[in-house]
Amino acid sequence: MKLFHFLLKDVTHKIEYYSRFSPSPMSIKQFLDFGRENACEKTSFMFLRKELAVRLANTMREVTLLPANLLSQPSVKLAHSCFLETLIKIRNRHNDVVPTMAQGVIEYKEKFGFDPFISSNVQYFLDRFYTNRISFRMLINQHTLLFGDAACLAQPKHIGSIDPACNVAEVVRDAYETAKMLCEQYYMMAPELKIKEFNSKTPKKPIQVVYVPSHLFHMLFELFKNSMRATVELHENNSEGLPPVEALVTLGKEDLSIKISDQGGGVPLRKIDRLFNYMYSTAPAPRLDLSQTAVPLAGFGYGLPISRLYARYFQGDLNLYSIDGVGTDAVIHLKALSSESFERLPVFNKSAWRHYQTGPEADDWSNPSSDPRDASTHKNNR
Ligand SMILES: Nc1ncnc2c1ncn2[C@@H]1O[C@H](COP(=O)(O)OP(=O)(O)OP(=O)(O)O)[C@@H](O)[C@H]1O
Ligand SMILES: [Mg+2]
Repeated sequence: MKLFHFLLKDVTHKIEYYSRFSPSPMSIKQFLDFGRENACEKTSFMFLRKELAVRLANTMREVTLLPANLLSQPSVKLAHSCFLETLIKIRNRHNDVVPTMAQGVIEYKEKFGFDPFISSNVQYFLDRFYTNRISFRMLINQHTLLFGDAACLAQPKHIGSIDPACNVAEVVRDAYETAKMLCEQYYMMAPELKIKEFNSKTPKKPIQVVYVPSHLFHMLFELFKNSMRATVELHENNSEGLPPVEALVTLGKEDLSIKISDQGGGVPLRKIDRLFNYMYSTAPAPRLDLSQTAVPLAGFGYGLPISRLYARYFQGDLNLYSIDGVGTDAVIHLKALSSESFERLPVFNKSAWRHYQTGPEADDWSNPSSDPRDASTHKNNR
């Protein structure tokens, strides 16, 4: 017990120390240059030794600012205690942090109900927490793929997890095929895919980008699953069959954009924002068996918010434009140039601290009397 308290004190001291540093964002180009030019394992290790501690400590300072009732939920406590162990085996140990936190939020909501102040804090926190997690995995993957045992097995063209010539339409097709398999298993049918490319830089050439294909795949897979579900649910009894899902891949001077369009009936404008909210979740809430190691994320309603974090992580974005009654366009924007794709990292500072202290202020726009349709907190009630 004494040893535990000693270690805890030491860890607390270290968190305080490292949280005084700001994280150093890396650009995809820097990841690439480092990995290419006789990458030095020692330099990489020295960088990680400080940078991982700094990123972790910045997040840890924010964890303590969460509402006490949320922190005291067993699942949230479990996620919290993960961090207080040593930094070794970080990646594997944290495999389940997203669903575990999701479960904690559900437990909290079941006990204490929905509160807009708490919800906006949780939203702010989880966006930053999960971004930090994405960045951790990025750094650790770069190191282990470049220098670890798996280095020889990794894709020869890739620099760590980055593909210097990632063919975007190919990833679109891969993600579509994987989503189609799931969709067919579930509904016995799936819409077709139509892909168009518009390369404004070098017309008619396939569009390529320096990017992490697994991130791109993750976002597209989530968008395809959503589009397929909406399409099938609206048209499954339609004698004319299912309208296709369309993908448009475009390259401009600054942006590389991918639009996924469906005719699945769309979402009313009023509901669009909440689709990205972690506190609104699928009804009925999925149960998590914490004794299982690999937990599927499906059903938590995290598809869109996490995908948007991936897009924003390298200075891109993900938006939904929906026409109620018709269908939805989901657009992923990425930076076309790897020198502009800098990591977007949360920094723990005074203005972050302030976010947790101040409640939502009175609305400075007139508000129609409360809408009975808003009584539900389930974002998936369509
Ligand atoms: N293309 C779309 N058309 C119609 N509704 C959509 C579309 N995309 C998302 N939605 C709505 O947004 C909700 C949230 O989507 P999101 O991907 O975040 O979570 P989910 O699909 O419910 O669960 P998960 O993706 O975690 O398995 C969906 O349940 C659905 O109601
Ligand atoms: Mg989804």
